Amino acid sequence: MRVAVLVTHIRAEEKLLLEAFQAQGIEPDVILDRSLDFDLAQGAQQPSPSGKAWSDYDLVLERAVSTSRGLYTLMLLNEWGVPTLNSYQTAHICGDKLTTTLMLAQANVPQPNARVAFTPESALASLETLGYPAVLKPVTGSWGRLLARVNDAETAESIIEHRQTLGDYHYHVYYAQEYVNKPQRDIRAFVLGDRTICAIYRNSEHWITNTARGGKSSNCPVTPQLDEICVKAAHAVGGGILAIDVLEDPERGFLINEVNHTMEFKNSSAPTGVDIAAEVVGFALNFAKGMRS
Ligand SMILES: Nc1ncnc2c1ncn2[C@@H]1O[C@H](COP(=O)(O)OP(=O)(O)O)[C@@H](O)[C@H]1O
Ligand SMILES: [Mg+2]
Repeated sequence: MRVAVLVTHIRAEEKLLLEAFQAQGIEPDVILDRSLDFDLAQGAQQPSPSGKAWSDYDLVLERAVSTSRGLYTLMLLNEWGVPTLNSYQTAHICGDKLTTTLMLAQANVPQPNARVAFTPESALASLETLGYPAVLKPVTGSWGRLLARVNDAETAESIIEHRQTLGDYHYHVYYAQEYVNKPQRDIRAFVLGDRTICAIYRNSEHWITNTARGGKSSNCPVTPQLDEICVKAAHAVGGGILAIDVLEDPERGFLINEVNHTMEFKNSSAPTGVDIAAEVVGFALNFAKGMRS
């Protein structure tokens, strides 16, 4: 089995994944995304930065921090028939919150009400329809950056003006969700294919509960209900190795907030007791075997 892992640099997660591959007797080639240079006409026969042809790999595991490098590499490799995790399709959907929302809606997966508009005037009207409080989010991005909880039209107006004036065109896409009155936490569930392998609560004083923003993780039991909605959400975005943010609504129960396709998990193995790296590698090797036969 020949495996390459595409990275921006080796974080704790990549170190754990490489060790888990080694425990399976596999020494993956580590490919740095800064060394990528593709001939667009040549296809998978061309050499990768490791010296091996891309077509020599049974699997390329994409772990780049840079979303655009990861995304375009997946696009090229999948187009050329090289098996990757995740697929370009999945990464493309998860990399954009608007696209994710659309795919979840098409699959009837419960999620917060969400709308999108493209000008300051229509965005204000859109927020009025959605109702306050609402959450304005850039469609791309992570770690809870540049999220704004908007309690009234006056605040909305000023946030929109800032984005319109200071932001590039990405920030002129006014994607908004209703604010979900969750407890002081949300849920981060880890899904591999058809299975939720574990989940954590992220507790925080702040309404943004990302661990990158100080949220504290503890084990969240994977009930059949949680597993069902998470697997359904995973299928809706094309499946693979995914981390799913789930909000608990006091009336409606679980709502899917977003799906992440290059997940961080270093803080989640200890509270859950699940060796996430080993599970990911097991899943990845099975996937690669399936692609070969
Ligand atoms: N609509 C919402 N209602 C309540 N809390 C939210 C909502 N959207 C986001 N949050 C909080 O903010 C956090 C980050 O939002 P998220 O959409 O996951 O963005 P990011 O991609 O930056 O992680 C979530 O984990 C959750 O705690
Ligand atoms: Mg998130």
